[in-house]
Amino acid sequence: MQKKFGSLDLLLGFLVKLNLECYNLLIKINLLVGGTSMKQDMIVILDLGSTNNTAIARAVRGLGVYSEIHPHDISPEKLSQLPNIKGIIINGGNNNIIDGEKIDVNQSIYEARCPILAVDHEQALCKNKRESWPTTEEETKKVLKDFVFKTCHAETNWNMKNFIADQVELIKKQVGDKKVLLALSGGVDSSVVAALLIKAIGKQLVCVHVNHGLMRKGESESVIEVFKNQMDANLIYVDASERFLRKLENISDPEKKRKIIGAEFIRVFEEEARKLEGIDFLAQGTIYPDIVESGTKTAKIVKSHHNVGGLPEDLKFDLVEPLYHLFKDEVRACGIELGLPETMVYRQPFPGPGLGVRCLGAITTERLEAVRESDAILREEFSHAGLDKKVWQYFTVVPDFKSVGVKNNARSFEYPVIIRAINTIDAMTASIEQIDWSILLKITDRILKEVPNVNRVCYDLSPKPSATIEWE
Ligand code: XMP
Repeated sequence: MQKKFGSLDLLLGFLVKLNLECYNLLIKINLLVGGTSMKQDMIVILDLGSTNNTAIARAVRGLGVYSEIHPHDISPEKLSQLPNIKGIIINGGNNNIIDGEKIDVNQSIYEARCPILAVDHEQALCKNKRESWPTTEEETKKVLKDFVFKTCHAETNWNMKNFIADQVELIKKQVGDKKVLLALSGGVDSSVVAALLIKAIGKQLVCVHVNHGLMRKGESESVIEVFKNQMDANLIYVDASERFLRKLENISDPEKKRKIIGAEFIRVFEEEARKLEGIDFLAQGTIYPDIVESGTKTAKIVKSHHNVGGLPEDLKFDLVEPLYHLFKDEVRACGIELGLPETMVYRQPFPGPGLGVRCLGAITTERLEAVRESDAILREEFSHAGLDKKVWQYFTVVPDFKSVGVKNNARSFEYPVIIRAINTIDAMTASIEQIDWSILLKITDRILKEVPNVNRVCYDLSPKPSATIEWE
């Protein structure tokens, strides 16, 4: 992220070249520069081992002022390039020992011209210090309010319009007249990144949508409709359904299925990337929770984060990650502001391997269609009943065994459909939604009438643990 310095650029470059011991001077200069075209003031939070960085950042944003969290060892030079810094919070805490040593920020940061508030960090060389945050949310808000408005004189100009305007400017600056590649799955994050980049650089963005044949009903069509037809994006649609299904033939082990789908996806995307010329950047829908879950310098890994990683070395791109500092609800607000349809922005989570992990065992076209059609009915009926806004995740599963039934006065031997609907906060644990019988009966009736090769419908009552949310 860079800021417009105008002729000061040269001066800064000169100072760096001279390698003067005056990083602090750079900061002073930067923070004195006026006339920036950025719309939002910013409070920077430096992570010095506290567990509440996220809560503090959200609290500052709650006051109407944009805030970003950066690692404790950010260089003064990099810090000086962040736009419109009005104040810095050095957020100390218990996770402040790395490799046996107590961590600190670069000392010259204390020389910054903007106000600094240090919390729980006794070594801090600044005026505004606190031993700890207050114990209640209300008191913490008061401390932040005083610092942000009375000490830093920040303005309440954090809103999605300004965020988008600033990102558009930053993206243009980063990308110039080069091209950017994006794997557009149609999920919330990649869709919002696409819309933001289309606004910033139009046809310089090349979106690749790979249909692996395991998408939900109408999903690829909606990606094409929204991005190609409505937003006039440069979209390459790759129908790789047959290729994926061939690779998955007779593979019943869930882990093998997942690995095949993941590896094949990268291969298809790589093939498309190699066909294109003059691409310098890769856009990714990385958002702040992805960073936290993948582990920060002071916090442990929750789970590894998978993005489009895994591309070969010779396909190295610079990354464009405009949602890097946003939380999920903010990403959704950004999508709405950019004009994306609500169905796309409030879409429930969908696993990367798609319906492949809901068509249990070795995938067959017959059962894959049964999952797709029953899932579409479930989604439609949930939407009619208003449950789509209430329930966190809901889908159907088709196992690879049959049961006996009667249809049209004759014996049938067909597959069951299992309905799953769960609520959760973080997907680590989950409880089932207690759906009204009348709604379940209506869905059952429709599935039995409309979905071929199905003669039985079940409702999964299992919480996580002991079950997981998905069946494979
Ligand atoms: P489980 O089944 O582990 O799922 O309880 C937890 C949540 O993660 C989703 N999920 C995935 N998401 N790639 C994803 O992006 C995957 O491979 C994947 N597997 C599971 C699942 O839908 C649920 O929301």
